[in-house]
Amino acid sequence: MTKTAAIVGGGVIGGGWAARFMLNGWDVKIFDPDPQSQRKIDAVLENARCALPGLTDIALPEEGSITHCDTIAKAVSGGELIVEAVPERLDVKHKVYAEIEAANTTGIIASSTSGIMPSDLQSELKNPERLIVAHPFNPVYLLPLVELVAGKQTDEAHIEKAKEIYSSIGMHPLHCRVEIEGFLSDRLQEALWREALWLLKDGVATAEELDAAIAYGPGLRWAQMGTMQTFHLAGGEGGMRAMLAMFGPCLKWPWTKLMDVPELTDDFVEMVGDQCDTQSGALTPRDLERVRDTNLVGIIRSLRGGDWGAGATAKSHDAQLAKLNGLNVKAADLDEHQQIVTSKRTVPLDWVDYNGHMNEARYLQAFGDATDKFMEMIGCDSDYIATGGSYFTAETHIRHIDEVRAGARIDVKTQVLLGEGKKMHLWHEMYEGTRLLATAEHMLIHVSLETRRPSNPSGAIETALTRIAQGHAALPRPEAAGASVGVRA
Ligand SMILES: NC(=O)c1ccc[n+]([C@@H]2O[C@H](COP(=O)([O-])OP(=O)(O)OC[C@H]3O[C@@H](n4cnc5c(N)ncnc54)[C@H](O)[C@@H]3O)[C@@H](O)[C@H]2O)c1
Repeated sequence: MTKTAAIVGGGVIGGGWAARFMLNGWDVKIFDPDPQSQRKIDAVLENARCALPGLTDIALPEEGSITHCDTIAKAVSGGELIVEAVPERLDVKHKVYAEIEAANTTGIIASSTSGIMPSDLQSELKNPERLIVAHPFNPVYLLPLVELVAGKQTDEAHIEKAKEIYSSIGMHPLHCRVEIEGFLSDRLQEALWREALWLLKDGVATAEELDAAIAYGPGLRWAQMGTMQTFHLAGGEGGMRAMLAMFGPCLKWPWTKLMDVPELTDDFVEMVGDQCDTQSGALTPRDLERVRDTNLVGIIRSLRGGDWGAGATAKSHDAQLAKLNGLNVKAADLDEHQQIVTSKRTVPLDWVDYNGHMNEARYLQAFGDATDKFMEMIGCDSDYIATGGSYFTAETHIRHIDEVRAGARIDVKTQVLLGEGKKMHLWHEMYEGTRLLATAEHMLIHVSLETRRPSNPSGAIETALTRIAQGHAALPRPEAAGASVGVRA
């Protein structure tokens, strides 16, 4: 695959796709007739550059290029993936597909539609088997979910190919096996939205109160478990069965207006719009996007800890990125004649404090992660740890030398000062490009996880560590090694 994505339609969703693909190293060719499109996409890219790289603990590939084309034909010619993100109207989409077909007969056409059936989308195509729905969620560059849906004429092999592509750019492809209007997520979201509009129309609650009813409660659960698992837990030890016995019958009570939708009169639309404007206060939609992105990065990052939901997707993307960045080195391949690169990452938005730079605790986290990576490289990986041996940190000294801001790419290089028996003495240097940001010195002791007492590492680990320590002994010893907190007169 050439790793070029053609994007037709560069609005909210097309711009988000462009950002996700580019920041994952794909070249993007884009067509949108709106003369403002380039400016709008640049604004999306600016936000995405601050937010997306912070989801992973490993640097994304070098950014791909973006080419704004003045015709659909130029954007799609030769492309193996064509992302369609034009307005949600079947006639507009059919017209666009005819233009795509005139210039490209083989690439996968992936429609971003929120709910139109793929069978309807592909009905006028000459090569209908290549059309799939790949329905993303806004902001596309941060939210991992993409619903994949095949139409009656779709070749299932394209769904499989699409799963690979979207996984490789850090997404969670969800194959909706049955073609149905609105797919899965939007059907669920619409049920809630319909209810909220009724409550607002009937004067039961304001827009702000309705949002509070989600954001402070169920919304926090939904970030990690859907409705089913959440209610399974709400049933206590009896699980979902108890929940259905207790609350199931209430579902038949005539609380909701079910499929009825409030009449969208001009007055009603104004009322809802006004309430939402008041709720946003002085913040513009662009300001709110930044708030949303920072919050999303924080939530997704916290889900990484438990390897759960969207956090699990970000973590499994790390594994792919580690390979790309050459961080999956085995002990035998480590070059003992130079410092070892143990981390390549981007400073996430939520690592920055009130001074506008990386918080001191995050330096320790970044260096701690580098130590973990080094342990893994010499064979002290999760399989080894499961056998009952590991390293504990006994002492740490960090020097903060220069500032670093969110979005900066940082590398950590590691030198072994001592690797002998139970002891592992490491020296880390953190850089942004060639600028030295900080150094850290760690003394670690190998322990038995059973007795929690010092013990010797396995023979394989000791051999690897000794070889590297002996090689690194020939490197200049860092001047500040062994220093304690220095107070200048
Ligand atoms: N906004 C969302 O939250 C969301 C979420 C998921 C999916 N979607 C789907 O994504 C698609 C795009 O929605 P959007 O929200 O980005 O809309 P949008 O209005 O922000 O963007 C549509 C873009 O298409 C361009 N366009 C119009 N005619 C075109 C043509 N003939 N060729 C190329 N470009 C053309 C417009 O200039 C505009 O920039 C829709 O199918 C929508 O259902 C939207």
